Amino acid sequence: MNEREIILCRDADDLARKAAEQWIALTAAAIAGSGRFAVALSGGSTPKILYSLLAAPEFRERIEWNRVHLFWGDERCVPPDHAESNYRMTREALLSKIAIPSENIHRMAGEKDPATAAAEYEQKLRNFFQTKDAAPRFDLILLGLGEDGHTASLFPGSTALKETVHWVATSYVERLHAHRLTLSLPAINAAAQVSFLVAGESKSAIVKALLGQDSNPIQYPAGHVRPVTGELSWFVTQDAAAGIAVPRNL
Ligand code: 6PG
Repeated sequence: MNEREIILCRDADDLARKAAEQWIALTAAAIAGSGRFAVALSGGSTPKILYSLLAAPEFRERIEWNRVHLFWGDERCVPPDHAESNYRMTREALLSKIAIPSENIHRMAGEKDPATAAAEYEQKLRNFFQTKDAAPRFDLILLGLGEDGHTASLFPGSTALKETVHWVATSYVERLHAHRLTLSLPAINAAAQVSFLVAGESKSAIVKALLGQDSNPIQYPAGHVRPVTGELSWFVTQDAAAGIAVPRNL
């Protein structure tokens, strides 16, 4: 695994802006290299500002959306118009405001039976990445971080965390009384770039537990995110980074 980078951000807006600039740079490089940019989006609340920024003229005009393929890193097992749907959140913040071909939007079918939806999504990834065995190489995977150290829908103790063969897994999250669909660790760790987006004081304890001096990250799902040959970036707001030693020249 390559050395991870920690990008300290003033606040959630600054984080979104820095992540948007990374998106722009990665998109240009990927399109120059392979003619397309494949990204897996994160759910939750933190990426919403980024998605809205990418939809703003300042950024949307700099992106060849017809060459961008949007996937999701995880989804709640609800219909696409449900308030809990990560797809819906993304549609409202981004998709409804950009000219992206509908065939470039590859959502997880949260409304279906979880096992069926996971198998279908895996087949979608195999068709898109045209690979039989080698794990899919996303150009970018965006991830959030829960206070318990979960990321995507890889929760502490969940069966999905143990998945070593399939690229898409399901899990029942007891504390949420809900099923989830998620990319597995093999799929996440095969990416060219993985970027965590972490904002807010409420995340400072888990950030310290994962990135702090005497941390033991492997005890948390997010600690298992270690791209095999790809890059790993942590975009962290200064309040979330309160417990770790990072240069604070903001
Ligand atoms: C989801 C996410 C999940 C999220 C974290 C952080 O579908 O909920 O993918 O992993 O990123 O729970 O969520 P917040 O950004 O809302 O703190």
